Amino acid sequence: MILFKQITDIQHYIEKLHREGKTVGFVPTMGALHNGHISLIDLSKKNTDVTVCSIFVNPTQFNDPKDFEKYPVTIDNDILLLEQAGTDILFLPSVKEMYPGGMELQKPYDLGFVETVLEGAYRPGHFQGVCQVVHRLLDIVKPDKLFMGQKDYQQCMVIKKLIELTGIKTTLVIAPTQREPEGLALSSRNMRLSTDEKEEALAIYQTLKHIKNNFTTTSFTNLAAFATDFLHKEGFSRVDYVAIADAETLAPTDNYMPDKKYVALVAAFKGEVRLIDNMLLN
Ligand code: PAF
Repeated sequence: MILFKQITDIQHYIEKLHREGKTVGFVPTMGALHNGHISLIDLSKKNTDVTVCSIFVNPTQFNDPKDFEKYPVTIDNDILLLEQAGTDILFLPSVKEMYPGGMELQKPYDLGFVETVLEGAYRPGHFQGVCQVVHRLLDIVKPDKLFMGQKDYQQCMVIKKLIELTGIKTTLVIAPTQREPEGLALSSRNMRLSTDEKEEALAIYQTLKHIKNNFTTTSFTNLAAFATDFLHKEGFSRVDYVAIADAETLAPTDNYMPDKKYVALVAAFKGEVRLIDNMLLN
């Protein structure tokens, strides 16, 4: 695996690959890697000639500075996992390298409705920061394919919109959420959970399954209320949302219509750790 820290170096290298007719797959990450990330590397390796991974804990997407400070950093282990997975290139820039002119966003991205709901509503500015860094990374890496996990469902929608807005010639590939055998969605934040908390956090998966089993026959409002109650009973200190929404737009809806696709999404706190998960319902 070749490690680059400077933008110009990786750019020159990737330009050469493109000139040789090689296709490039890209997996952007913030490190603290787990099997969910590695499944994206595997998918990229299957679908492109050269796989690039980036590790950059992007300060501009943390609306809560405490969350940024506590974000797990496990760089040695990350490098080991990426090597084992056969990653070709790791891009590991510094904050200065990524934002030489400062972190201020010059012009906000016009993301529309998708930025106003759920994560957008609870983490103001988060998706602007995500777009800022992903736009910059796509400009640097110029990948043919970008691989992201369905675990961050709304983020995937936002990146789809970013690609539309900017006209960047990269195809977004969304890979299924990877879970622990019992169902807990893999997340870097799980590292901050105790063994007991991890077990209790399973309630999110159980609640999503309950919604999936009942959404054609029960009103969405009732299902969401039941789920919120269940999570509180299972020891979640705060439930930001349980939402059942149109899978294409994230517009809230209340009743099932057979010709529509739906997704259930949850954000809740286990202790101090904010967990998100989702499930496509049909
Ligand atoms: O999903 C993440 O890890 C981050 O939001 C991303 C896409 C790497 C941008 O910093």
